[in-house]
Amino acid sequence: MTGRRSRLVTGIGELVTCAGPDGGIAPDDLAAPADERLGIVPDAALVVADGRVAWVGRAVDAPAADERLDVGGRAVVPGFVDSHSHLVYAGDRAAEFTARMAGTPYDGGGIGVSVAATRAASDDELRALLAARVAEARALGTTTLEVKSGYGLTVEDEARSLRLAREVTDETTFLGAHVVPPELREDRAAYLDLVTGPMLEACAPHARWVDVFCEPNSPHAFTEAEARRVLDAGRAAGLGLRVHGNQLGPGPGARLAVELGAASVDHCTFLDDADVEALAGAAATTVATLLPGVEFSTRMPYVDARRLLDAGASVALASDCNPGTCNTASMAFVLALAVREMRMTAAEALVAATVGGARALRRTDVGRVAVGCRADLAVLEAPSYLHLAYRPGMPLARAL
Ligand code: NIG
Ligand code: FE
Repeated sequence: MTGRRSRLVTGIGELVTCAGPDGGIAPDDLAAPADERLGIVPDAALVVADGRVAWVGRAVDAPAADERLDVGGRAVVPGFVDSHSHLVYAGDRAAEFTARMAGTPYDGGGIGVSVAATRAASDDELRALLAARVAEARALGTTTLEVKSGYGLTVEDEARSLRLAREVTDETTFLGAHVVPPELREDRAAYLDLVTGPMLEACAPHARWVDVFCEPNSPHAFTEAEARRVLDAGRAAGLGLRVHGNQLGPGPGARLAVELGAASVDHCTFLDDADVEALAGAAATTVATLLPGVEFSTRMPYVDARRLLDAGASVALASDCNPGTCNTASMAFVLALAVREMRMTAAEALVAATVGGARALRRTDVGRVAVGCRADLAVLEAPSYLHLAYRPGMPLARAL
């Protein structure tokens, strides 16, 4: 929806702004209850000009525009902001998923299978796989997508992954510290030197963020001290910080993310009271990003989001779409899990999947339908956003 001409989108049965009814709730206003933040406008319209929202209100009050699109009474919500995905990879791990469903636990070891396949793929193969995955996400209503590297794990393959990711999004994350690659399993120190040295140098120009799989419960991932080193080096190279933490068991990830002022700590499956308190205290800085598709696909316990929300933490929902622990980009599915399994209201879940994801990416121009924001919208094959959780698995949302 870019271009110089203005376009009136009308016939919106229910517009959810995620910015309050008059666009007045700021993205960083954590005190606003989700119901108020939704800012539902019935029988609404909006005007888009130059890719931005130029006007929002009741259809009866709509100004004239060059073009007109009638969405026939459907609901419109902000496009989903999926702040966590791993889409640059080749190969298939359906067998690993199947074994897991038969009882084999997840420990991060399967990442090596994707690494081997990714290294063996040509640029064009990887580019085509990535493009198809981004198209799937858009077709499911996602309009902002963070994409991580992490299946290359050599200087060249990580830099290539990020170059390709940059072709599809500005939200690129260097995840060289995903696991220690097989060839350096006996020499972790050498891999840490690489990730914080030449690999970081080659990748930083193509990345906005640095991330680390901080997980002492996995022999493949990184300890607190190693994660700190990776994040310190990433910050020194000008990157913002993100952390995979507390996925497989209790651990230091959440507290480390808070201490270092990371934008987000993702997973948060195993949090103790001190972690929750730390995240609540850091709500203005560090978002707890929950990834229930992972719990679904690994048979781990769902996070009690209510505990985080009631404590005052800032919460986002994201897909973590990846070949190992969650191979779906459907934010509608994620939202349905959050409502069914994590004690989030439908309003809280939609806020977490839009403006929550924007906060996790430190973006104020997406995740809301308000004047000046990007005109990133999802139209629902439904009269209300409530259908997203009410009709799970149905193809309701698509990017407009
Ligand atoms: O977010 N936790 C580490 N990384 C991914 C899984 C990657 C994989 O298994 O391929 C995750 O769950
Ligand atoms: Fe992940």
